[in-house]
Amino acid sequence: MAALRQAACRSLFRPLKTHNVSRNLFTKASPIRPESPLTAGIYATALVLSTGLFAVYYFDARSALHRYVIMPVLRQTLDAETSHKIAVKVLRSGLGPKDPVTDDEHLMFELWGHRISNPIGLAAGFDKDGEAIDGTVFLPVWVEIGSITPKPQPGNPKPRVFRLPEDNAIINRYGFPSQGHATVLSRVRARLPKFLTGEETKASLRDGSLLAVNLGKNKESPADSIDDFVAGVRTFGPHSDVLVVNVSSPNTPGLRGLQNKVSLEALLTGVTQARDSLPPSYLTSQRPRLVLKIAPDLDQSQIEDIANVIKNTGIDGVIVSNTTIQRPSHLLSASRTENGGLSGLPIKPYTLTALKTLRANLPPHIPIIGCGGISNGEDALEYARAGATMVQVYTSFGYDGVGTCRRIKDQIVETLQKEGTTWAEIVKKSVDEYSLREELPETRDGQGTVNQLIEEAQHLNKLLDELGRKMDSVDHRTVVAAS
Ligand SMILES: Cc1cc2nc3c(=O)[nH]c(=O)nc-3n(C[C@H](O)[C@H](O)[C@H](O)COP(=O)(O)O)c2cc1C
Repeated sequence: MAALRQAACRSLFRPLKTHNVSRNLFTKASPIRPESPLTAGIYATALVLSTGLFAVYYFDARSALHRYVIMPVLRQTLDAETSHKIAVKVLRSGLGPKDPVTDDEHLMFELWGHRISNPIGLAAGFDKDGEAIDGTVFLPVWVEIGSITPKPQPGNPKPRVFRLPEDNAIINRYGFPSQGHATVLSRVRARLPKFLTGEETKASLRDGSLLAVNLGKNKESPADSIDDFVAGVRTFGPHSDVLVVNVSSPNTPGLRGLQNKVSLEALLTGVTQARDSLPPSYLTSQRPRLVLKIAPDLDQSQIEDIANVIKNTGIDGVIVSNTTIQRPSHLLSASRTENGGLSGLPIKPYTLTALKTLRANLPPHIPIIGCGGISNGEDALEYARAGATMVQVYTSFGYDGVGTCRRIKDQIVETLQKEGTTWAEIVKKSVDEYSLREELPETRDGQGTVNQLIEEAQHLNKLLDELGRKMDSVDHRTVVAAS
């Protein structure tokens, strides 16, 4: 040890030769004299220009710099989890790139009565602890933080994330590392003084964007208990536009069992009751929407069961899907045998199959959010044509960086313009065509069918629902004004 220290001191105090002037680290370096003022001027101008150019490219999320330089360098130099952490920290710092372009109106669609400017969301798992909401909220239109567990927990031992570059895929077995409800809640609340204007309509605090909170379950909690999810609804309900009930991660033992009919019925009844008993949010004057996130590994009858439970419990939407435990035989990458959930390009066929089965078993008013292997505009449109109202990305964002959402949006617009249609029209057509229409007998006078009556009743119900929300909000504002 002493020998090492002596060697370090020797090298620190060894004279450095710079322009024939002897110095060590603690003496001042003699100024480097340029050959001439002209050379110095050229160097300085080149430096300023290249720094300026780099900054312009860097801060613009559309720049190829991110996809073709920064991301490959990160991949070559750092392991998957470290790169992930750095990306979150950069976006958290406010020094992340921004998307400077206003969304094209071809991308506009409606979700639960909100007009949403584009259909691309960022899936759960990127910003697990809500650290970078304000850095990411500019990029996709739906930012989903989590999964968050009630108590802090470390997740599985490392390494637990693996790139499969030859397959455009990732395998992860993170196992819900989470800072827990209390820490993430205080972080979400800390944003308020910065952005609150009093006129918010969204908990994201950004017009046109939605903040979703993905709820997970602690590893130590009993497998069949719904308490962690109910606690999540109570904790994050007032601070989110959407709450996602995640029963589909393959990395928490027993979690996927909650997708079974009986367990799911108890869970979804519990969380809807918890949500309905919340007062309207002090931010948005509304209660959050509840969305279920399912696995792509369910068979037809399991999906039918899930659809029936959803219809009976008042869940507002479904995300299809989480990662898969399947391993297609065509995978090439060395890490293909790692345990965990596979995401990215190889899961697209599984997800699309699950989505189509679910769409056929759900009525049109329950939206499905497609997620799995989407990396370009064509993928996104394929989901819309299969009956998804919007889509989410994760693995392609991990590989291609912050410009991914903008690139996908631009590609969608190009196709929509060529086809003379809009995202909303494509969604309406596929949802109308593929959704469940319960076959019921004709009414006696033959003027209309029971189906029509049901549709009208559903429409009326929606209007009453909206009216209820508005009255809630008026009541709420009156109470706030009076207090
Ligand atoms: C590294 C990693 C971590 C993830 N963590 C979560 C999570 O905490 N909660 C969750 O619901 N989904 C999680 N997911 C699943 C994604 O949200 C998404 O459903 C899945 O990756 C499929 O989309 P993709 O093919 O675009 O990646 C994670 C995915 C990856 C790759």
